[in-house]
Amino acid sequence: MFVSIILAAGEGTRMKSKVTKVLHKVCGKEIFKYVYEATKKAKIEKNIVVLSASSIESVKNSFSDESLVFVEQEKGENKPYGTGYAVMCAVDEIKDEDTVVILCGDGPLVKSETIENLIAVHEKNSNAATVLTCIVNQPHGLGRIVRNNKNLVEKIVEEKDANEVEKTINEINTGVYAFKGKMLKDSLKKIDTNNASGEYYLTDTLKVLNEDKYNIGACILEDETEMHAVNNRIQLADVTKLMRKRVNEKHMLAGVTLIDPESTYIESDVVIGKDTIIEPNTYLEGNTVIGEDCVIGPNSRIINTKIGDRTSIDSSKTIDAVVGDETTVGPFAYLRPKAKLGNNCKIGDFVEVKNAVLGNGSKSSHLAYIGDAEVGEKVNIGCGVVFVNYDGKNKNKTIIKDGAFVGSNSNLIAPVTIEKEGYVACGSTITDNVGEGDLAIARARQVNKEGRGKGRF
Ligand code: UD1
Ligand code: CA
Repeated sequence: MFVSIILAAGEGTRMKSKVTKVLHKVCGKEIFKYVYEATKKAKIEKNIVVLSASSIESVKNSFSDESLVFVEQEKGENKPYGTGYAVMCAVDEIKDEDTVVILCGDGPLVKSETIENLIAVHEKNSNAATVLTCIVNQPHGLGRIVRNNKNLVEKIVEEKDANEVEKTINEINTGVYAFKGKMLKDSLKKIDTNNASGEYYLTDTLKVLNEDKYNIGACILEDETEMHAVNNRIQLADVTKLMRKRVNEKHMLAGVTLIDPESTYIESDVVIGKDTIIEPNTYLEGNTVIGEDCVIGPNSRIINTKIGDRTSIDSSKTIDAVVGDETTVGPFAYLRPKAKLGNNCKIGDFVEVKNAVLGNGSKSSHLAYIGDAEVGEKVNIGCGVVFVNYDGKNKNKTIIKDGAFVGSNSNLIAPVTIEKEGYVACGSTITDNVGEGDLAIARARQVNKEGRGKGRF
């Protein structure tokens, strides 16, 4: 079986955060989730996650994936430390015949293709272990790969333990490996803490295996950025930028136009149909799904919203909403949770919709509040209409049936119903139901007082 060990028991103190490091989000998704999604895509069935006591509960509670097994790395005054010790905490979960991929929980950019390629190289050469390495310009701080005369890996030397010659090596250890289960377990028994850090180095298992005459291979990673990990907020921003670029490019290659990718913020799980255009300064978040031939933005924030085809949303915010086909929203509209617009609708400037369904062809072009309502098809809601849904205690519902017309600047005091083709004269305050096809006028009659406007200057 293919299994992984994901190391995440570092304390993450440089994040200066109340939140466990691997639960910080990159493009809307937890750092750790990227890692196990990549391993799962690379056909790894079981992910053994090593966490510290302070983080294990929060991580466990955040994910329910069946591939995950959590183990705790105990820490304390007399407890050893280091990547080698972290893996020792996981060995009970490993079988001799397993192929074990080890990687870090704080590197969300690692690609499933990279893991698959590492496993392929490892298996093809029947290596005891295979290291994912990388040639870099700035090897400082990283483990250096020392190769033997057969060009196999002899050992990995940490920066702190390296001599001057070893420090010049620019092939580094990315911290990702494939091991034969048995070799990993056997070699872990033979490593010690006699090094500059006084830690168990996982990398020392390779030296042990080499001394036991096993082959240690290397698989060279081309794109160094895949290994970028998050240790502080600056790196969080750097990694987010790389991830954002990756997400944006995925959409562009799939037929979505991004007018300005630099100012387009699309979270990882968003789905966008072909020939949709995303204008600048637009945020697409959560599990938003957008259809084909839409124009979204500029200056919009779309959260957990399902949008049909050929719809446009300009300079607006939508959250937990549904928008049909060929509908226009904005500029400056606000769709709040459970706003559900049909096809061919229009929600114009300064219109707020909350917990309200609008049937096909209904319109509210300007300055309205539509809350807690059921609005039928082809209903016109005039400028300045307020659905008065709240009496100070309860939220009440307004029902407006097909073809009704609500004149400008009217108040609909809920609970109230306007039947089919009912017509509300503008400026009305409607407290009673309006019958089918009826005209309701609920305003004071105009009185003209002759000459009373004169002489005020
Ligand atoms: C390690 C490698 C180094 C490599 C580098 C790549 C060793 C000895 N060195 O460096 O060759 O170039 O990764 O980034 O392995 N962790 C635990 N428990 C611990 C210590 C660490 O779970 O007790 C986890 C951390 O959370 C992290 C990962 O292991 O996810 C790597 O730890 P880190 O301290 O960053 O690695 P280094 O030892 O610096
Ligand atoms: Ca360390």
